[in-house]
Amino acid sequence: MHSLIIFASGAGSNANAILEYFKKNGKAKVALIVCNKAGAGVLKIAEREGIPTSLIDKTTFNGQVLIDEMRSYNPSLIVLAGFLWKIPDGMTRAFSGKIINIHPALLPKYGGKGMYGHNVHDAVIAAQEKESGITIHYVNEHYDEGNIIVQEKCSIKPNDTPDTLANKIHRLEHLYFPRVVGYLLDKIKD
Ligand code: GRF
Repeated sequence: MHSLIIFASGAGSNANAILEYFKKNGKAKVALIVCNKAGAGVLKIAEREGIPTSLIDKTTFNGQVLIDEMRSYNPSLIVLAGFLWKIPDGMTRAFSGKIINIHPALLPKYGGKGMYGHNVHDAVIAAQEKESGITIHYVNEHYDEGNIIVQEKCSIKPNDTPDTLANKIHRLEHLYFPRVVGYLLDKIKD
């Protein structure tokens, strides 16, 4: 069975969607949840599910100990599910080709430093875009610039607000992210 490591900073609704999906199909297990924010919702989900957690600060995040701990789980994929720090080059190199991220917009537009969560939906609505969506991509040394794996779109109606757009995006994320992880795992020998 494949092992996954999830990085998350917030509510953890994507982490939860992935957990629930693999509880049903048994193809993978979430071996560790790494979080940089004490009290984050994702930590409560980990506790509920009995999943080990690693609460990090900038020092531990940039150190070798965390990489060694991650290696001990022999993860097939490292899944960034709403993680707000840029992955250090040492970690990208240690898990080259194994780190994926989900971004709540159609990259390369509305990506890069500072473009996360509601900032993205605010900018998309302000620009009067007719569509938005999600991008699932590999992580490399540059913020939000790794090879794109999948993009899924949603239309934006004239009466849409950043909040209603956020709901549409979350629905896309919770539907597609677990399935894309499953698709990638099928291509990896475990
Ligand atoms: C999601 O919108 C994701 O696209 C972005 O951060 C948000 C995380 O939400 N990277 P949650 O913590 O999974 O609810």
